[in-house]
Amino acid sequence: MSEKIVIAILVSGDGSNLQAIIESCQAKTLPCDIAVVISNRPRVRALERAEAAGIKTVCIPHQDYATRADFEEALLSALAPFSPAWIVLAGFDRILSSKFLHTYHQRVLNIHPALLPAFPGLHAARQVLDYGAKVTGVTVHIVDEGTDTGPIILQESVVIANNETEESLLKKLHEIEHRIYPEAMKRVLTKGFEIDGRTVRIIGDE
Ligand code: GAR
Repeated sequence: MSEKIVIAILVSGDGSNLQAIIESCQAKTLPCDIAVVISNRPRVRALERAEAAGIKTVCIPHQDYATRADFEEALLSALAPFSPAWIVLAGFDRILSSKFLHTYHQRVLNIHPALLPAFPGLHAARQVLDYGAKVTGVTVHIVDEGTDTGPIILQESVVIANNETEESLLKKLHEIEHRIYPEAMKRVLTKGFEIDGRTVRIIGDE
């Protein structure tokens, strides 16, 4: 049996994607060991979910640090003892600098609730509805220095209903997220990938 891949998950809020990843690991459909869950916000549900699953948690409140560089130094120091092969962002609401991304070069994944490059940033579902878009979706991507600009691994679309509300759209998007994030992680982490321009190719895929 092959070794599990050691990952760290960064969170800021509810942690429903974290929960989906935990459950995929528990079901052994995702061969990962979640070494640590780190939150930049105290007392969030994501930390409770990790603790309930017996996963080590660390809270590093970003507002305790004078600069982003200081915060990231603390983040890197907290991660280092676990030697994670991958960093998985699951609703983490801080931008990571090039120093952090250099340390984990092309080893940081994110999920975004829109079809990037449309509607990056915060409150994507609200942005989509305000714009009057008819289709949106979910994107899993490799993180680069921009805001939701990194090379795309997997996307899935969803049609916006005439009477769609932010709440109903978020529900649809979450259902997709909880399915495709563990799926995308499994493909990238176990098969490996190459990046040609902006195009991510999973090794062995047609
Ligand atoms: C998710 O919908 C995720 O796509 C989004 O934050 C939410 C976190 O929910 N991420 C972004 O908007 C990144 N730009 P969760 O804490 O329940 O997993």
